[in-house]
Amino acid sequence: MKTLFEKVTVGGNELTNRMVMAPMTRNRADENGDPNGLMVEYYKQRSSFGLIITEGTAPAHVGKAYPGIPGIYTQSQVAGWKKVTQAVHESGSRIFLQLMHSGRISHKKIIGLDPISASAVKPAGELFTGSGMDPFETPKAMSLQDIAETKAAFVSAANSAIAAGFDGVELHAANGYLLHQFIAPNSNVRTDEYGGSIENRCKFVIEVLNAVAEAIGADKTSIRISPNGTFNDIAETEIEKTYTYLINAINGMGLAFLHVSNQFGFESIPFARKLYSGSIVANSGYADKTKVETAKRIIETGEADLFSFGRLALANPDLPKRLAQGLELNSGDSKTFYSRGPIGYTDYPTAP
Ligand SMILES: Cc1cc2nc3c(=O)[nH]c(=O)nc-3n(C[C@H](O)[C@H](O)[C@H](O)COP(=O)(O)O)c2cc1C
Repeated sequence: MKTLFEKVTVGGNELTNRMVMAPMTRNRADENGDPNGLMVEYYKQRSSFGLIITEGTAPAHVGKAYPGIPGIYTQSQVAGWKKVTQAVHESGSRIFLQLMHSGRISHKKIIGLDPISASAVKPAGELFTGSGMDPFETPKAMSLQDIAETKAAFVSAANSAIAAGFDGVELHAANGYLLHQFIAPNSNVRTDEYGGSIENRCKFVIEVLNAVAEAIGADKTSIRISPNGTFNDIAETEIEKTYTYLINAINGMGLAFLHVSNQFGFESIPFARKLYSGSIVANSGYADKTKVETAKRIIETGEADLFSFGRLALANPDLPKRLAQGLELNSGDSKTFYSRGPIGYTDYPTAP
């Protein structure tokens, strides 16, 4: 029987266990998107996870979601990330960079530009822009040239990630950010070849994935999806049909893994397992109250190959040891999830 605590090989990397630190935005980067010493410390503290997936990172300035989000589009950002990857590797873990283009989930006050998206559809709600909350803006609908440039930005960011020492990248096609905005029919109302049918709405995601895989190798490329997710004002329809099409299109590409984030109302982990023949990283979602038991069951039954922990990884830098030894767990303080500085970031204690 498989367990969370055994070694596994993913994308050519031998991981010390099947536990993954899920991507989590923490807003601790410098003003210009540079990773800093505090971030080096934070990721190094969590290097007993078999694999770390970083917080969502902007592949281009226009795709930066919030203040304090790191980027991977300048030389100083690459230099900053090098220190993170080096520290994590020295401590025995592997690390993938999550490429998160925010699309319409940004604001002129953050990027000094109009946010872009599949279509000019304003999301409901507001976001933190630096000094307070502002309503979202109507994004600029991407032209075919914008689409080509964005694809090129993903490729360039993936190349930079490899130059910075990452073991691979994860494309963020979940949670209502740009790639998801193309998939969902309420944010994509285009009438050209990138909108309308399921095939057309999935086209941009598949093209970006192929372009990145061609640039850095499929075994260093992965993707995260959240079928039926509603975060960031997404409303999907025809979930089974859409994600059957998408998963079939990427199955056989030889990706490092498919990361599936389970959402209320659709059992996406067993669904993905039936369709996808490569490695699956499961995330059981915010609503799961019995996460540790779920993680054990999912690995033991083979429903997924790895399991990613979000808030438990945030609050327990040594979660693999705590779970292996049945030790008590710290709980996270949501007030400091997105604050600045070390409090609630690098000061969660390890078990004695
Ligand atoms: C503080 C915080 C920040 C997050 N940021 C990201 C992100 O940048 N990219 C992403 O794909 N998911 C992000 N998520 C979602 C997590 O990866 C994960 O799917 C979610 O927390 C549910 O898993 P959990 O119950 O183990 O925490 C974030 C979650 C939290 C709590």
